[in-house]
Amino acid sequence: MGQVLVTGATGGIGTALVRALVKAGHQVTAIGRDVGRLDVPAIEADLAAPGTLAAAVGELRDVQALVHCAGISPIAAVADAGPETWERTLAVNVASAAELVRLTLPALRRSRGHVVFVNASPGMTGVPRWSAFVGSKAALRELADSLREEEEPYGVRVTTVYPAATATELLREVRTTFGRPYDPERCIRPETLAEMIVWALAAPADAYACELSVVPAPR
Ligand SMILES: NC(=O)c1ccc[n+]([C@@H]2O[C@H](COP(=O)([O-])OP(=O)(O)OC[C@H]3O[C@@H](n4cnc5c(N)ncnc54)[C@H](OP(=O)(O)O)[C@@H]3O)[C@@H](O)[C@H]2O)c1
Repeated sequence: MGQVLVTGATGGIGTALVRALVKAGHQVTAIGRDVGRLDVPAIEADLAAPGTLAAAVGELRDVQALVHCAGISPIAAVADAGPETWERTLAVNVASAAELVRLTLPALRRSRGHVVFVNASPGMTGVPRWSAFVGSKAALRELADSLREEEEPYGVRVTTVYPAATATELLREVRTTFGRPYDPERCIRPETLAEMIVWALAAPADAYACELSVVPAPR
């Protein structure tokens, strides 16, 4: 089995994902800024600069899957969000994903591999003070849906995961900034979401989940 490339591996969900992938027997390579602290092989790269990724990543062989889990969530009204906010959010959340897909497609086609995009909460759209974030995730969904059609003849699978509130530091910060309560007990555990992504990657030969909406179970 080839390697699984993971962006956002140092984050709340990504850390759990790397652990779950390793536990399931996958060979994991992290791609990110500060990956030295991880226990898996890593490629140092800044996803805010998609144009630098080709040089950073080099030639990749034996790629079984690419999971784009990196993301930033700036909170600002359109009236206050300057071009840097838009450029950075679109670069990290979607343009770098497209570029990493482009760079890994030859290997993914050879392995009839799988691309997984971690998107936002199911149905999230038109959120005041969150336009750059929800706009980037809408673009990420379009990237996934176009890519799925394009790569179907080559056997590459494309899954979008839509996680509802997941108990990470990022969510705590987002909720605090929006002035909304944060109760990790009412959220998805990152470990649970990670297991569901590992499950999606383990789909059999005849079918797979192209979209996965994950919500907290009823209490
Ligand atoms: N938590 C939730 O409730 C929730 C719900 C729905 C969707 N999501 C999505 O799930 C994903 C992970 O969320 P999370 O809660 O785990 O967030 P997180 O803890 O803030 O992790 C974000 C990850 O993205 C990486 N990243 C940010 N900017 C980068 C850059 N310029 N270059 C390389 N890597 C960069 C971070 O790396 P550094 O360590 O270097 O900063 C970190 O590994 C995101 O796409 C988020 O939108 C989260």
